[in-house]
Amino acid sequence: MILLGVNIDHCATLRQARYRQAGATVGGNVEPDPVALAQLCERAGADGITIHLREDRRHIQDRDLERLCEAAATRVNLEMACTPEMTALALRLKPHSVCLVPESREEVTTEGGLDVVKFRDKVARVTDAMNAAGIKTSLFIDADEHQIDLAKKLHAPWIELHTGAYANAYHGPARADEFKRLCVGATQAHALGLVVNAGHGINYVNVAEVRTIPHLHELNIGHSIISRALFTGIEEAVREMKTRMNS
Ligand code: PXP
Repeated sequence: MILLGVNIDHCATLRQARYRQAGATVGGNVEPDPVALAQLCERAGADGITIHLREDRRHIQDRDLERLCEAAATRVNLEMACTPEMTALALRLKPHSVCLVPESREEVTTEGGLDVVKFRDKVARVTDAMNAAGIKTSLFIDADEHQIDLAKKLHAPWIELHTGAYANAYHGPARADEFKRLCVGATQAHALGLVVNAGHGINYVNVAEVRTIPHLHELNIGHSIISRALFTGIEEAVREMKTRMNS
């Protein structure tokens, strides 16, 4: 069975749209609460909860992460940049895993995989620290031979293949090539002994093909689940995605 990690960042996006100045992350008029949403996701079958604490704190706030680490019944996966600040935070709060992602302030969301080749030393430093603390590190990378090889050499136990380019190409001529690239990357990573996750841009339609990528352990999905939840409620949205992932 492929596991589902639900990314709840956009619940916080909605809260921040109205209550950015409130100071508090919960209580009084402040809503919606991402931690309460996470608990409903878990009740509906989510295998883990993912949040991205961005350096600019545009959606998830530090207090959300602290509360989630206390309240989660499943696993907390913290997406983070390779910075000393985020490393210290992860070592203090001890999520089950961290997913190292690139971050630039201008992007709307994470737009490309982490360049492990370029940032080798930074990635190695964070991965070593997490390994020593018993926190799993996942590297969010493109399905590129060199990136995958280096993930193994730096002792990251997991990778998350970036499915964004595939998702963007889904309705165009490049789809087959992008899909093949993901399959080749997953096969390579599995042969090296890496656990293979995937995420970004996965929705209720393209998941029918995404789920056939070999050796998938977990999919991390946010935007499409939160969007559907506006119409169906979050529990139905999570259940439906899990069914489509595994039927
Ligand atoms: N995985 C990673 C590493 C991400 O950065 C994101 C976006 O925050 C996701 C998965 C989820 O992407 P989406 O919201 O498009 O499902």
